[in-house]
Amino acid sequence: MQATFQNSTSAGVLTRNHWTNRWAFILVTAGSAVGLGNIWRFPYMTGTQGGSAFVLVYLVCLLAVGLSLLIAEILLGRRGRADGVSSFANVAQASKAHPFWGKIGWIGVISVFCILSFYTVVGGWIMEYMVRAGIGFQGLTPDQASTGFESLLASPGTLITWHTVFVAMTGGVVMLGVTSGIERANRFMMPALLFILIGLLIYSIFSADMPSAWKFMFHFSPEKIDRSVILSALGQAFFTLGLGNGTMIVYGSYLKSETDIARSALYVVVLDTLIAIMASLVIFAIVFAQNLPPGAGPGLLLGTLPLAFASMPAGHFIGFAFFVLVVFAAWTSAISICETLSAVLIERFKLARKKAVALVSVSAWIVGIGACLSFNNWSELKILDLGIFDLLDSLSSKVLMPLSGLMIAIFCGWIVKRELLQDELKLSRTVYRVWEVAIKWIAPLAIIAIFINIFTIKT
Ligand code: PHE
Repeated sequence: MQATFQNSTSAGVLTRNHWTNRWAFILVTAGSAVGLGNIWRFPYMTGTQGGSAFVLVYLVCLLAVGLSLLIAEILLGRRGRADGVSSFANVAQASKAHPFWGKIGWIGVISVFCILSFYTVVGGWIMEYMVRAGIGFQGLTPDQASTGFESLLASPGTLITWHTVFVAMTGGVVMLGVTSGIERANRFMMPALLFILIGLLIYSIFSADMPSAWKFMFHFSPEKIDRSVILSALGQAFFTLGLGNGTMIVYGSYLKSETDIARSALYVVVLDTLIAIMASLVIFAIVFAQNLPPGAGPGLLLGTLPLAFASMPAGHFIGFAFFVLVVFAAWTSAISICETLSAVLIERFKLARKKAVALVSVSAWIVGIGACLSFNNWSELKILDLGIFDLLDSLSSKVLMPLSGLMIAIFCGWIVKRELLQDELKLSRTVYRVWEVAIKWIAPLAIIAIFINIFTIKT
């Protein structure tokens, strides 16, 4: 970065788009946060990690670590007024920090590229299930339900077709721009998502087993809290807010300077959590009503749930609505991931938006094809003992995201000038102190704990 902080800021402000208002920002940021992490990962983890014990620890992690890092990322974006790499360089320069700190954004770039390449593959699975639900799961037997998913994974043609459709849907919106593409898509999809979810919740209260679902998620059972529960909860808090990927930095960089960062971040965390909890209640109420097990793991959404839709009243309609909801959630997240990468090409390499998005989409599409093939034709191909899909997932969520989060916490907690942080956050003394303790101590220590867990426990 040759440009000085001042220059790049003013140039950035002149050419940068802005979200229309604070609510638009909250909506798009929640759109990024609410995704497969909420509707697929959170429920299955709750199902396998002791139900309420996991929920409780997750909420603590989200407030103690997730929220403080989310505030830090939005702040870096708004102060740096640039993409997820240049924002660090700009803030580092303004704080007269070592140039090393200006480069840490690259970790997020690699991470978010890995995520885009496999997220669009999973988005494709969900599209296939939306169509299957539309046709109807009636008459599905338990055997067919589990082989149904296995046979999807075994057919490269279907996987690649849906992956291609999902990449095109994502790139198509991002090409339209920040306000006329991303904001507009979220303005439609997020309210629609909430509407469908509330509808499903009402349905489950009256027609499924909500008391059992409630008890499973909220009946306090501290004896189930162990090391593995704590660390999975922390990892989930990271994934669900998309921390350490530069996404919140880029979205924060389009935020107007008068908007209150901490309060907006809090709303996003509350929305994200409410949606994860509501989705889990719906899923468990339906699963329990059909006497199915909650602990199916990653197969809960695609292996267990269709079975419930097959045998419940109005299952056809409910199943379809449910998968439309998941498609919306995954789509708005994929859009934010694609924008994060495109912004780097647009701002650092001065590419036109359409070209940048096309380059990002085609690259992620190619790597994603490798991920599709890792379930079938290339299943023998292993790198570090992992197939391509698992490698992309593990590399991003177990190594790059926490590493980048750790760097961000150290950068904001210890390196960036305090006046700059205070000026951007405009918090009362006490609230600022609480955030400072969280970003200086709690977040770094918790992330180091995740790392120790990854390298000591083989899952
Ligand atoms: N938070 C999203 C989810 O829960 C995923 C995501 C990851 C979004 C990284 C942005 C960046 O599915």
